[in-house]
Amino acid sequence: MNKGEKNQKIFAPTDEAILRAAEIIKNGGLVAFPTETVYGLGANALDEAAIQKIFAAKGRPADNPLILHVTDISEASLYAVLNDAAVSLMERFWPGPLTIVLNSLGNVPLSARAGLETVALRSPMNDIALRLIRMSGRPIAAPSANRSGRPSPTTAEAVRDDLGDDVDMILDGGHARIGVESTVVDATGEKIYILRPGGVTREMLETVAEVADSGEDSAPRRSPGTRHRHYAPSIEVRLWENERHDIFQNAGRWCYVGMRTPPDGYVKKITFDTLEDYARGLFAALRDLENSGASAIIADLPDKTGLGEAIRNRLFHAAGKV
Ligand code: TXA
Ligand code: MG
Repeated sequence: MNKGEKNQKIFAPTDEAILRAAEIIKNGGLVAFPTETVYGLGANALDEAAIQKIFAAKGRPADNPLILHVTDISEASLYAVLNDAAVSLMERFWPGPLTIVLNSLGNVPLSARAGLETVALRSPMNDIALRLIRMSGRPIAAPSANRSGRPSPTTAEAVRDDLGDDVDMILDGGHARIGVESTVVDATGEKIYILRPGGVTREMLETVAEVADSGEDSAPRRSPGTRHRHYAPSIEVRLWENERHDIFQNAGRWCYVGMRTPPDGYVKKITFDTLEDYARGLFAALRDLENSGASAIIADLPDKTGLGEAIRNRLFHAAGKV
């Protein structure tokens, strides 16, 4: 399939297009759709064969479970055991970039849960996504709509580039607002464990729940997905972690992404003024810079505060340092 044919799969999110997308979901097909974080590759979460299509299209390892996208708390309660902490988190942060891992009620196919006793749930803050879930009449299982290991897609065009052959339809919601994936927390126990930092920051979580320190007792709760290579562009990524400039010496043909001003000598640079902008633009920048003709991307590692923790996490993965 050429680029022109793949472009024909991208649709503006009219009522008619969303209705058609919902029909595809109901019939066991794959629809890529926008969320406030990144684009998702959606299928009926209760349809075993449809879930297998997601794993096949992405080339995703079978041991990495999927997030179920639901409209609200009452829909979540159909699939998971809700506790007080989980309800507080949902009331405070849903719809929004927070995924909550809870004990499963056992009615979601095991393949979506990668054989685990738990299930991950999230209600996205995006009107197109919420309407699609509602019109489909069932939860939508959706990983990020990239080929496994690649940077997540923040535009419909990035989805097309990775998965245009495999997806039945792509709903175009423009550039994703947040740009890094949802925060994933394990809320099955007394404390909340952050499995993946994201759009809802540690500081925000601490306003409603007791959050375990990073590293604290986290080994048994590690998210399966964190074991695999992630977010990596096709050229090498190196991290600029300190005040010094030695990383730029002998760097070959390098390009740059980040918030600081790099020294001269780059093939291309993409800079951002705020952490919010850096998060929003990071994945698109990695996809752009891999085609810049440089042989390495030098990426600025921000401080840990706020969205910085999520950006650092994605950059460590992109650089193969996890
Ligand atoms: O923002 C997002 O979360 C996006 C949009 C599309 O919603 N989705 C996304 O999905 O990033 P994915 O599949 O790329 O990442 C899901 C993460 C993985 O790290 C996975 O291991 C973890 O959630 N996860 C899913 N179910 C889990 C479970 N039962 N226990 C622990 N971790 C789980
Ligand atoms: Mg992903």
